[in-house]
Amino acid sequence: MSTEPKLGSKSVFIRTYGCQMNVYDSERMADLLKPLGYAKASEPDQADLVILNTCHIREKAAEKVYSEIGRLKRHKAKKAEDGETMTIAVAGCVAQAEGEEITTRAPDVDMVIGPQAYHRLPELLAKAARRDGKILETDFAVEEKFDALPARNMSGPTAFLTIQEGCDKFCTFCVVPYTRGAEVSRSLEAIEREASDLAEAGVKEITLLGQNVNAWRGAVPSGGEIGLGALCRRLAGIEGLERIRFTTSHPRDMDDALIAALGEEPKLMPYLHLPVQAGSDRILKAMNRGHTAEDYVGLIDRVRAARPDIALSGDFIVGFPGETSEDFEATLALVEAVGYASAFSFKYSRRPGTPGAMMPKQVAEPEKDERLARLQALLDRQRREFNENQMGRVLPVLLEKPGRHADQLIGRSPYLQSVHLTAPKSMLGSIQPARISGVTPNALAGSLVEDGEAAA
Ligand code: 5AD
Ligand code: SF4
Repeated sequence: MSTEPKLGSKSVFIRTYGCQMNVYDSERMADLLKPLGYAKASEPDQADLVILNTCHIREKAAEKVYSEIGRLKRHKAKKAEDGETMTIAVAGCVAQAEGEEITTRAPDVDMVIGPQAYHRLPELLAKAARRDGKILETDFAVEEKFDALPARNMSGPTAFLTIQEGCDKFCTFCVVPYTRGAEVSRSLEAIEREASDLAEAGVKEITLLGQNVNAWRGAVPSGGEIGLGALCRRLAGIEGLERIRFTTSHPRDMDDALIAALGEEPKLMPYLHLPVQAGSDRILKAMNRGHTAEDYVGLIDRVRAARPDIALSGDFIVGFPGETSEDFEATLALVEAVGYASAFSFKYSRRPGTPGAMMPKQVAEPEKDERLARLQALLDRQRREFNENQMGRVLPVLLEKPGRHADQLIGRSPYLQSVHLTAPKSMLGSIQPARISGVTPNALAGSLVEDGEAAA
């Protein structure tokens, strides 16, 4: 007898072989799938997802699994005739031991998950589901997707330009890969066309946007592919465009070409938002970040070697499940080692459907509050220090909008700091040198520098 899934919901059947450990793992997998809408089915034939959680201890265990897959194959084919799908996953120790051989011998298996990886089940399912949809999306719909975005966001001389969407990184705290889908890049041609249009309309500064902006890749007409560094250099060639920024970058996608461009392209502003989230390798691993604290600090060293004055910004999460006070101290130590010009910091919040939400050792709220306060005090101090270091310097300021007082304009320094100064409205939209004479918590005060004075 089969359990009919409720309309709109999905069902999973898990067959468990072997030891208590496997029984426990199967329950955990069922728990992980619940927030994704999977109810338990009592028979495999109608289930949307069948997991064989295998055991390698006894002889012939693998053979048993293959014959079970043979049976499932028939159900899968029958479902396919009705236009439905069945995902077959092999988990546990046979999966670990046989790995690739399973997919070669049994092509109907969609997923092979070792015992150390079952907590990644939601991620693997999302990836498998997207593989079907994605082919369609990249073939036809990428431009449509970007065209459907809100019209270019232009205010005065600055504009945002979306070049990339989605994320394949699957940090275990984050819903973006589930809600926004896979990483897709807008075409080079469409980006260049829009950037030129913006420049013609009087835009001086564009900020290239993407959830993983530095994962952007584009084909060039001469053949081959380029990344964000080369894209920025090409956009810098557009007449009238004076400044280029990009956000948000991922440490794993920072390549040498982008670092070199930051050092060499004068129109690329010295500001980098590069989230690290935490400073403890144990927590970074649990977050599935794909880098260590040392990798990140090494990357920052390379960026600073290319562009010594760069303003660094980051995102931080305190109180990720299992974060001990030593782990948190490691975050503070990383912040001390890097030195940020600005930052965003958050208390971990459980997002249903993400692996983090199911992790044990959730951190108590008062503990998170205390850690966040300590982290923010340190980051505030660093921001103040960065701003104070600009005192007396002459910075080029892009004058963006009128200020609160008559004759006052507000602009931005290359480091993205707000600069308030006295200047005529006719200067709106231009870049002017200004000497920095004051620092408030959120802005700088400056005064226009007369011709010739800037060099003094
Ligand atoms: N809890 C707290 N912060 C989160 N972020 C993303 N997901 C969560 C979460 N579940 C933060 C990360 C990310 C930024 C955009 O939001 O720091 O970089
Ligand atoms: Fe992707 Fe950023 Fe979310 Fe990680 S935090 S999954 S990199 S969007």
